[in-house]
Amino acid sequence: MRPTNESGIDDCRLFDFSKISDPRGNLTVIEPGQPIPFAIERVYWIYDVPGGEHRDARACRTTHECFVSLSGALDVTLDDGTRQRVVTLNRSFCGLYVPPMIWRRMENFSTNAVCLVLASTSYSENDYVRDIKTFRRDKFSTL
Ligand code: TYD
Repeated sequence: MRPTNESGIDDCRLFDFSKISDPRGNLTVIEPGQPIPFAIERVYWIYDVPGGEHRDARACRTTHECFVSLSGALDVTLDDGTRQRVVTLNRSFCGLYVPPMIWRRMENFSTNAVCLVLASTSYSENDYVRDIKTFRRDKFSTL
């Protein structure tokens, strides 16, 4: 795996999970291995976001994450310190993989949006970078 500081926008990948279509409703399953390129250690989800609200931007130092919009839609703005990209998530069989040291902001949540986040580590505040200046400094300090 590449050093976390070398992660770039192009490493943030969208992929489709398998979708089992059924007249009774669709089903998607995530199991260890492909296509998520990390072992899942933690799962959390964000919901009941008031209209027009956003989640504060941040980066993770070591945590790999995968975002899935289970309901509704949201935008994830990604920034690798050099380039930016906005990804709209609105399909519950579609995942957005984000490696460590990518600045990201979740915004433009639709009504009733539910965003599932799969993470490679247990929660630690020490793994978070919540200040953009610190992110830019640390992103490029060891390259
Ligand atoms: P926060 O990291 O601000 O959420 P976001 O994903 O939008 O950046 O987390 C909000 C609060 O929830 C904060 O007090 C930390 C806590 N929290 C946990 O206890 N465990 C977790 O896995 C996460 C993601 C957050």
